[in-house]
Amino acid sequence: MTLRTRLFLALLAVALAPTLLFAWFTLVQLHTATSRWYQSGVERALESAMETNRATLARLEATALERADAWAATLPGIAADPAQREHMRTRLREAGLDFVQVYERDSLAWHVATTVVPAGVPAAGSPDLSRSIAEAMASNRIVRSETGELAAIAPVSDGVVLATGVRLNPGFWQRLAGVREARALYARVGILVDVQRQRVWLTIVALLLAIAVGAAFLANALASGMTRSLKRLTTALEGVQDTGPREPLPVSGPTELASLATSFNAMTTRLTEARVALARAEREAAWRDVARRLAHEIKNPLTPMTLSLHRLQRRVELVPEHERSAVRESLAALLQEIDHLTQLAETFSQYARMPEPRHEPLDVSELARAASALHEPEGVTLHVSCDDALPVRGDRLLLSRALHNLLVNAIEASPRGAVVELASGADGSQAWVEVRDRGPGLDPKLAERVFEPYVSTKNRGSGLGLSLVRDIARQHNGDVTLVNREGGGAVARLTIPLSSRSADA
Ligand SMILES: Nc1ncnc2c1ncn2[C@@H]1O[C@H](COP(=O)(O)OP(=O)(O)OP(=O)(O)O)[C@@H](O)[C@H]1O
Ligand SMILES: [Mg+2]
Repeated sequence: MTLRTRLFLALLAVALAPTLLFAWFTLVQLHTATSRWYQSGVERALESAMETNRATLARLEATALERADAWAATLPGIAADPAQREHMRTRLREAGLDFVQVYERDSLAWHVATTVVPAGVPAAGSPDLSRSIAEAMASNRIVRSETGELAAIAPVSDGVVLATGVRLNPGFWQRLAGVREARALYARVGILVDVQRQRVWLTIVALLLAIAVGAAFLANALASGMTRSLKRLTTALEGVQDTGPREPLPVSGPTELASLATSFNAMTTRLTEARVALARAEREAAWRDVARRLAHEIKNPLTPMTLSLHRLQRRVELVPEHERSAVRESLAALLQEIDHLTQLAETFSQYARMPEPRHEPLDVSELARAASALHEPEGVTLHVSCDDALPVRGDRLLLSRALHNLLVNAIEASPRGAVVELASGADGSQAWVEVRDRGPGLDPKLAERVFEPYVSTKNRGSGLGLSLVRDIARQHNGDVTLVNREGGGAVARLTIPLSSRSADA
């Protein structure tokens, strides 16, 4: 699993865990609150009240119907006969009924003919069901009057009916209807609660999904942001392995990664420098090898050639008089060329085996003055301003050779009669010597490469002079530069660290 995936999952978990916990808590609360609705027993109480009512009423209706039918068949003369009425009173009580009535119909409507109530019940205010009889006879023969009676009707003869039943509370039917309505309402509210509960569930699930998607996006962005710098670093590292470093890494992102990028850049810079140094060392080693072979190949025939020429010089008298001076001149020219070739071979072998420097306390100004003394009569005017004592530790021979090479270059570059300046001084912890000329200056195309071996614009130049100077400077922990001078010409500057007092002591 990649680091990015891990970070993504961790961030997602951190974002989702509290959300899930909160959603779970909310749903549990919701469930507890709504289930109380069902646990309260209200519905069951209402239901059982309704059931009890229904059973009692059915039983009363059945009793009333049975009695009404029986009495209608057996007691036709109830209205007229006082004995029968007395008998009825007792029977009513036994049956648990409250009244028995005989209704007669004239041409217009039903009206009460007789009312018998149990003993002790006042007959006054007795029920009047006359308006409900026709409707009841057409249906189930049961009357539920608005005044609170429940009665059964039975036909006695044509135009005569018997009604018997109980008197309930005056508002009984309304209250029964009220209970029924309450139960219906309760059921409706229950459904509403269910719907509401589902809605809350859906809302929470939708919210969870939205949060999950948002968290996923955020986690993804954060994870890729965090790993981007690492990825860049990995790619850069792979690049170092494959082809070597190219561009420095951008120093951005979190502090730790930024400092990692800085360290990486520093490392690649050092690596590049080391590579360049190695390549240069390899190149120099190869050049030195070439120089050694060249010096060997040139030097070998030079000695016998010189000996032969000297032998010829000694025998020049044998040449006829008029040819003698020409031969002498030719021999002198040949000897001069051989001398030049010997010098060239010497330069090559110097370059090929640079001796290890033998350090001793020296005064750079004094070295410079000594070097200038060797060059006075060469067609240029030397201006020397090397007065301050500049103590360094170095190899007298090597440093003199370096100064000599710089002076030769300046003199060779100068037109006849020009001024070459030689100056020395101190700059901080460094002693410097400058050789300034008014020659043509440095060719810009060559500027980069003048310190490389065998780079020369001169017909008889070896191109090793400046290369040697640079080697000597480096052996002394110093450096050499060659730049163009304001107003024309060039300045060669050699710097060497000044020796501290303790080093001198
Ligand atoms: N003072 C200078 N003014 C202009 N060009 C210079 C100066 N010094 C050096 N150069 C350029 O740098 C080249 C390299 O110099 P370097 O001393 O290494 O070799 P060289 O002088 O050509 O040969 P050699 O030193 O063997 O005689 C020169 O050929 C020349 O083109
Ligand atoms: Mg030179």
